[in-house]
This record gives sequence, C-alpha cells and structure tokens, in this order.
Amino acid sequence: MSPAALTPEPSFQVQPIIKPKDQKFDFGALVEGLDLNIISNDDVKRLKETIWTHKVIVVKGQKELSPEKHWELVTRFDPDATQVHSHGNLATFQKKGGVLSKARDVYGIPGAENVRLIGKGYQGDDHYGLKNLNISGLSNNFHAEPPNDKDFEEGITRFQRWHIDAPLYARDPAWFTTLRAIKLPAGPDVEIRWDDGSGLSMKTPPGLTAFFSTSQLYKLLSTEEQQLVNHSWVEYAPHPYMWIENCKAPSTGLGLKNEGKEHTMEELGDYDEKDIKRYPCVWINPVTGEKAFQVHGLGVRKLFLRSSVDEQPEVVEDVVAIRAFMHKIQSRILRPEYIWLPEVEEGDIVMWDNYGTFHSAVDYPLENYGPRTMHQANIGASKGPVGPVPIPSVC
Ligand SMILES: [Fe+2]
Repeated sequence: MSPAALTPEPSFQVQPIIKPKDQKFDFGALVEGLDLNIISNDDVKRLKETIWTHKVIVVKGQKELSPEKHWELVTRFDPDATQVHSHGNLATFQKKGGVLSKARDVYGIPGAENVRLIGKGYQGDDHYGLKNLNISGLSNNFHAEPPNDKDFEEGITRFQRWHIDAPLYARDPAWFTTLRAIKLPAGPDVEIRWDDGSGLSMKTPPGLTAFFSTSQLYKLLSTEEQQLVNHSWVEYAPHPYMWIENCKAPSTGLGLKNEGKEHTMEELGDYDEKDIKRYPCVWINPVTGEKAFQVHGLGVRKLFLRSSVDEQPEVVEDVVAIRAFMHKIQSRILRPEYIWLPEVEEGDIVMWDNYGTFHSAVDYPLENYGPRTMHQANIGASKGPVGPVPIPSVC
C-alpha cells in the first residue's frame, strides 16, 4: 500500500481564524470545499479530527444539506453511538427536560426527527414539512433580572445561558454539536452586557452563538488548582434540568443564582440510580491531549475534591459552596477577549467540540431583526469523558 493510500489527501481546506489583536481566544477555524451531502468516509474522519483540534469550526456553504444527510453525518461521527439525539426523543425531552424544554419550542424535522428546529419567530408556510410555525425560542427569561424592555428593543442583551450540550443523566454528552444556519436575523449589532458591575460588554451581529474554550480556561489555573481539579469529580443531579427548572441565572448567564429554588429529590419523581452521572472535572481531548475544565455547574449536586489519587475526597453538597467554587474558576474565562461568536452566513454549519468548550445563545428583539431558523443535531456519545486519572465509580 502506498503512503498516499494510508493518509489520503484532504479534499477540503481548513483555515484557522485570524483574530483581531485584542482577542486572546485560541480556537476556531473555517472549513471550505466540502459538500456534506456527499462527504467521503476519509473526509468524515478528517472533519472529526478538525473539530477536536480547532474546537469550533464553521463549515461554509451547506445551503443544500438535507436534514436526513445532516443526521447521517452526525451518526457517522460516532458510529457506535445509539442513534438518538443526546437529549433523547422529543417526548422524554419535553417531560423531563425542565429548564431546557419549558422555555422554548423545539421541533423534530419530519423524517429526520433528531435534527431539531430551533430559532425564533415565524418559520414559513412549510419548513421541511412543518407548517406555519411561529416559535418562541431565544429569550432572556432564564435571567433573574433580564434587560428592561426599552434597552432590549435597542439591542441590549445578555448571554442566555453558558452550557455544554449534555443530558447529564442516562446518556453521555455528545462529542460534537452541529448547528446549521438556515435563516438569520439581520440588522445592526446587538450589545451583550455583563451587567455584573464589571462594565464588560461586547458587540456582535444578531443571532450568533458565543463560545469560550475550557482548555484555555484550564491553562489559566494555577499549578495547585490544576492539581486539584485533575483529581476531582462531580456528581450531577438526577434529571438535572428539571431539578433547577425554577432557578434563574445571574446577569452573565454563567451559573445560577442561589435562591433555594432547586427541587427536592422527592419532587423529581422516579429516577434510576444507575443513570446518575459522575464525571471528572477535567476532560482530556482525544486528539490533542489537552485538558479542559469541563463542569456544567448548574447541574452539579455533589463535588468531590482531592489533589491526589490517595487522598480521601472532601465532599461538598451545599449548592452555594459548589457554585462559588465553579464561579471562582469559570469566571476567569468569561471576558470579551476569550469569547468568539463565529459570524455565519445562511447555509453555514457550526460544529463544536462539546468536551472542550462552553457556548451560549444570545437573544435579540424579533420585531427589529426578523426570524431565526437553525437546524441542530448531536448524538449521545458512545464513550463518555475521560479524565486525567480514574475516579471511583460510586462514592
Ligand atoms: Fe446548546
């Protein structure tokens, strides 16, 4: 076999993005020259490696991608995975999805139900078989103190909710999420404000998704902190999004306000102990070997802290203390210079490494900018996150 046969020539181009001087984020690439309707197995493999390497990529020019082929691509990224969206079927999602399902409408595309229509406003007479839909989607309802109506009408907004796409119960988080822009709002830039006393803000075109890298966050930690998080782990609540469905976010969209509104375990109803997720605080990138501090703080019910494998962990069960720990770490990366909002055009598809980034939607005033239509798909992973050291399976 020739060397060329072992390492096929790439048939598409990858360009790391060129950042303005004041930006410090260390991820992101543009991909051109691909038709995802007819992508070869070699290119699927290379595309997968490109996502793990660059963490957030924009694949240009996929206006003609069919929802069926979109889902097929997602399954080809992880062929050993059970063939269902990471949040399960729509019936389960709507029943136990809590904060994820109650604040917005999510529809499966007929014939490709695992490709989810998300967006805002009127979706047209017939959107791939979905007729006359007018959907509530993006909103700042998750915020304890959303921007007032007048400011919002003028384009002042918030990060909606910083998160990873992860059920955190029963199924493992998708390795990647894919989000295709079908219709984008248009108009002047909106202004995202932190409104936390920091005075921070950033301007962006409407309808985009914001990202930061949790590998870059890990690099911002001290050696002692890295030692601690390398050996520590978390336990998520059963049905975590239902658990916190009455909770609200602080103005930055990162974490939760402490208002004592979490459900009791009894209120959650039935759950299966074996489906509760315990994950290391640090997840290893399978291609680059980078470490990421990847904890979805709002679903954590127990934190197990230790700085070596021999140490008995300190168990933190007070959500106020858990959130304070997360905030101390995660707030370091929540600065404009570390955040990228990829500027997509209609037809582009953003794909991200869900094991090494956090993301957030950003709401905008519908009347001034028009509807937004996106197709989102991911698949519960065949293999969950791997940490720097093994964690006890039950503690
Ligand atoms: Fe998401």
